[in-house]
Amino acid sequence: MIIFEHPVFDGTNGKIDVRSLFPDSRRPLKVEIGFGNGTFIYDKARAEPDTDFIGIELYHKGIRSLANRIKISHIKNIIIIYANVKKVLADSIRDNELLEVFINFPDPWPKKRHKKRRLINVDFTQLIYSKLINKGKVYLATDSKDYLMEMLVSFEGNPGFKNLVGRLKYSEKTPYPSTTKYEEKSLANGEKNYYLQYEIQK
Ligand SMILES: C[S@@+](CC[C@H](N)C(=O)[O-])C[C@H]1O[C@@H](n2cnc3c(N)ncnc32)[C@H](O)[C@@H]1O
Repeated sequence: MIIFEHPVFDGTNGKIDVRSLFPDSRRPLKVEIGFGNGTFIYDKARAEPDTDFIGIELYHKGIRSLANRIKISHIKNIIIIYANVKKVLADSIRDNELLEVFINFPDPWPKKRHKKRRLINVDFTQLIYSKLINKGKVYLATDSKDYLMEMLVSFEGNPGFKNLVGRLKYSEKTPYPSTTKYEEKSLANGEKNYYLQYEIQK
C-alpha cells in the first residue's frame, strides 16, 4: 500500500493540473516516463536546478525510493505522478507544455503475443507530439533491437519528428552523463544499447 504525500501525487483518478504543482509556471518542464528506481531523473534535476521535472511511474518500490531521495535532499524541482503515463499525458498535461521527454528502457515485451502491450506506437507518438513545444525533444533508449525498429517507424511516420541522429538512424552511444538501472544491467550482460533523439517541428 503506497501513501501519497508530497512529492508523490495520485494521477489514477481524475485530472491533476501538473503545472499548478510547481510554484512558477514559466520554468521549463521536462518529463521522464517510467523512471524505475529514479536515478536518472534525480541526477538530471540536481544538474538542472532551473528546470522542473515530472516523473511518471506505476512501480511502487521505485516511487518510494525516489520520493525518499527527494525528501532527504530537499530538492524542489521534481514531482512524481503515480499513474499510467497515457492517462497523465492525456488528462493532466496541457498541449505545448513540455520541453523534453525521456523514455529509458521501456518494457520491451519480447514475446510476439505481448508486443501490443508496448508503450511506443503511432498513437503514443502523436500524444507526445501534442504535449511538446516546438523544438522540444524526445530521448529514447532501449536494449531491444526489435523495439528500436518499432520506435523508428512509429516516430518517423510522423513528419513532426526530426531524427537528430539521421533519418531512421540511431546511436549506440549514450547522450547522457547519467545512467539507469536497466542500462547498467544490459551493459553488464554484454548487450548493446540503442539511443534515439527527436526534435519536434510544429
Ligand atoms: C524496464 S523498466 C525501466 C526503468 C528505468 N527507466 C531504467 O532505465 O532503469 C520500465 C519502467 O516503466 C514503467 N512503466 C511501464 N509502463 C508504464 C506506464 N504505462 N505508465 C507509467 N510507467 C510505466 C514500469 O513500471 C517500469 O518501472
